Amino acid sequence: MSKLTICTKNKKMKVADNLYGIFLEDINRAVDGGLYPELLRNRSFEDSLLPVDCTLVDDGYAFESCTGWRDEFNGGEGLTKWVRESNIVKTSIPAWYSHKAEMKLDDSDTLNVQRKVSLAVGFDAGGRIENIGFCGVPQKVGETYNFYMFAKSEKPMKLQLIVGNENDICAELEIHSVEYQCYRASYTAKKNCKDGKFYLLSPEGGELHIGFISLMPAETFRGHGLRRDIAEMLENIHPSFLRFPGGCIVEGFTPSTAMRFKDTVGPVWERPGHLLMWHYRSFDGMGFHEYLQFCEDIGMEPLYVCNCGITCQARKEMFMTGQALDEMLQDVLDAIEYAIGTPDTKWGALRAKMGHPAPFKMNYIEIGNENWGLEYEERYQIFHKTISQKYPHIKFVANSHLEKKGISADIVDEHYYETAEWFAENTDLFHDRSRKGPEIFLGEVSVVRGYVGQLYGALGEAAFFTGVERNQDVVTMASYAPLLENVHYQAWSPNLIRFDNFASFGIPSYYIWKMFGSNRGDFVVDAQTETRRIARPVKGMASLLGKPGLKFKNPLWNGSMATVTQEVMGHVILTEQNMEITEPDEEQLEESRRHNGAKLGEVLVVFGEEKAEAGCFQIDILPEKGREIVIGIFTSRIPPMAYVNDETHPPKAWNVENVQPFLWKIKSGSSCLIDQFAPGKPVLEKAICSIKADRMYHHFSYKTDLKKLWLYIDGELIHEVMIPSFAALNTVVTDTEEEVIVKLVNMGEEEENIAINLDCEVESEYCAYVLTGEKLAENSFEKPEHVRDWKYQFCGAGRSFTHTVPRLSVTVLVLKKR
Ligand code: AHR
Repeated sequence: MSKLTICTKNKKMKVADNLYGIFLEDINRAVDGGLYPELLRNRSFEDSLLPVDCTLVDDGYAFESCTGWRDEFNGGEGLTKWVRESNIVKTSIPAWYSHKAEMKLDDSDTLNVQRKVSLAVGFDAGGRIENIGFCGVPQKVGETYNFYMFAKSEKPMKLQLIVGNENDICAELEIHSVEYQCYRASYTAKKNCKDGKFYLLSPEGGELHIGFISLMPAETFRGHGLRRDIAEMLENIHPSFLRFPGGCIVEGFTPSTAMRFKDTVGPVWERPGHLLMWHYRSFDGMGFHEYLQFCEDIGMEPLYVCNCGITCQARKEMFMTGQALDEMLQDVLDAIEYAIGTPDTKWGALRAKMGHPAPFKMNYIEIGNENWGLEYEERYQIFHKTISQKYPHIKFVANSHLEKKGISADIVDEHYYETAEWFAENTDLFHDRSRKGPEIFLGEVSVVRGYVGQLYGALGEAAFFTGVERNQDVVTMASYAPLLENVHYQAWSPNLIRFDNFASFGIPSYYIWKMFGSNRGDFVVDAQTETRRIARPVKGMASLLGKPGLKFKNPLWNGSMATVTQEVMGHVILTEQNMEITEPDEEQLEESRRHNGAKLGEVLVVFGEEKAEAGCFQIDILPEKGREIVIGIFTSRIPPMAYVNDETHPPKAWNVENVQPFLWKIKSGSSCLIDQFAPGKPVLEKAICSIKADRMYHHFSYKTDLKKLWLYIDGELIHEVMIPSFAALNTVVTDTEEEVIVKLVNMGEEEENIAINLDCEVESEYCAYVLTGEKLAENSFEKPEHVRDWKYQFCGAGRSFTHTVPRLSVTVLVLKKR
């Protein structure tokens, strides 16, 4: 039985005002064609255009940026897997097709300077053009849709608007202007249609130029243009801030694709749009104004992430200088003026013109996304100094721990993409952090390896967040990443909410954010937990690493010859006396170079299979002068990220860099056991040992029962260590004047009885929100709430009572104070 002793009189800290928020980036076509419900894809006809600083390679299959970064392009369709999975017939104008009509892009006669092309169409009588939308143009019976297009024609012509099936005429238009003019129509759908198309048909034929075109549902969230079901799901998390607009898309992959606020405001047909890091062009229909409006609508603090003159550092960065850098700085200043300047300022006036004369909020600016290094420090300081002089109330978020260099940052944004077990093991990550500042913002957090999008992944995150809540005097903000995914355009996995044109559902983690975000309390109170521990699941046998030329013999596993199953770097050759690991060959080196960060010049051979097995491994190794002996224990690969851009990012193969979890290193009389998995504190144990170089083979062995490790040299026990573990039950308790709120996360596969002791009287009746299921359980369109929280009523609470939580579960108890 576990024990939880709660002392409400001992208040540990006030809960952070803005702990749970959301981070919204346009990835997986999350925004364009998603939360921003445009139904026509490629509405400005520019999807096939490349940014000015990129060139096409491999016949348009890919492009290469001026920095040398390559990405799939497919003529503007994006990832190859999207084309393959949705059976797209590629055209030169993505999403657009014609029948008895000729279409071409015209760059000489466009709607405005921002539009690089228009669509010139020559219709035969009865000819039509078609748009296939974002995998279909959906129609819901009874819903009203608004259509508009900027078009012109030398001669008057009639057009029919058909949406859904070929015969569903929704409206008729008469084009009579020789200059671009906006033509509008609205209609109410008579039928449901899931995989329909949009057609523009000319009964009599004619020549038409279209400068921009759009079809959207009339009814949107609070009338502000966002898709209702998705916006409501976000509102139900009760987020207190919105980090936007990215993410990597803020950085861009070239100077021209770096995000600028100015490009995302004003009438949508005047917004230039740009190719995003995540493989498609955005038309920025949800721009700076719309993000701020959404914040206002659901009571979130906007946290604007700006580019600080650096393109994506993970994708061959470029540092902007001189005028280019000044322009980026001016762009942020203008963005802030747009948000909070009075209507008599240049940008405040545009906000007023866009329908919002009163200022929005703007209290947080993050300078850069995932930027680091000297170049970042310089730029951070320039941005910080200039912005804070003009807007002293703003709190600044840095991407790295600049305070260590004496640079002022109010908040530092840390990102954690890990496994469920890592999160469960690291609930105390922030316990020892300085309380003197800066505050910590967990801007991007999620389980991306292992139990991705499954119940156990959500439990790992929930366990971690009990630790975050216990330390919310230092971790003051957090958001899951990424947030949204159109299932037909997945570029990353997992994502908190998944949707298609008709429906949306939350993955199990969504319900954790909802449960935690809806049950905050006012103070974190003292709570002591006694519970059993679960050893980190480990698998795999041994490996040898280090420099080429390592000599060994007699490798045994449980007394039998242990075979080398992987020669990752280097080869094992047999001599009369021993076995030796040679230099890696060219193919291995090439493989290693392809995996970023792989250490060249090292060898790695693996014994046995990636299975979880108790047993004993033994080997004789010849120590040579200057050589460090490195034995990998439970050698297995770090599970690949469930990142699905598989053509350009294949799942990681065996690699010197991704061996985990333990390395046993012996050199010059010292022995050290290292946990590759641990953040910050990788050394599990250090010990002294006696080894004579060049003289004789020494006998190294380890024994394990999967909970503990015993390591021997020449029969002498050198290390005896527990395999790292995590608590079965993870808890945090908060209270208000009226309630005690107890969060309980059971990572264990058994139900837990918890003896709860309180220092105050509570009502016997209490409620519990419970989420539980099988380890691998997930939600789907068919079963959208297979894993979710359910509310239950109990009675029997008191100063001392027992509550039972299900196996593999998250529970929030709400006890009423008496
Ligand atoms: O959330 C997906 C990406 O992960 C973000 O764009 C980036 O900041 C991080 O690397």
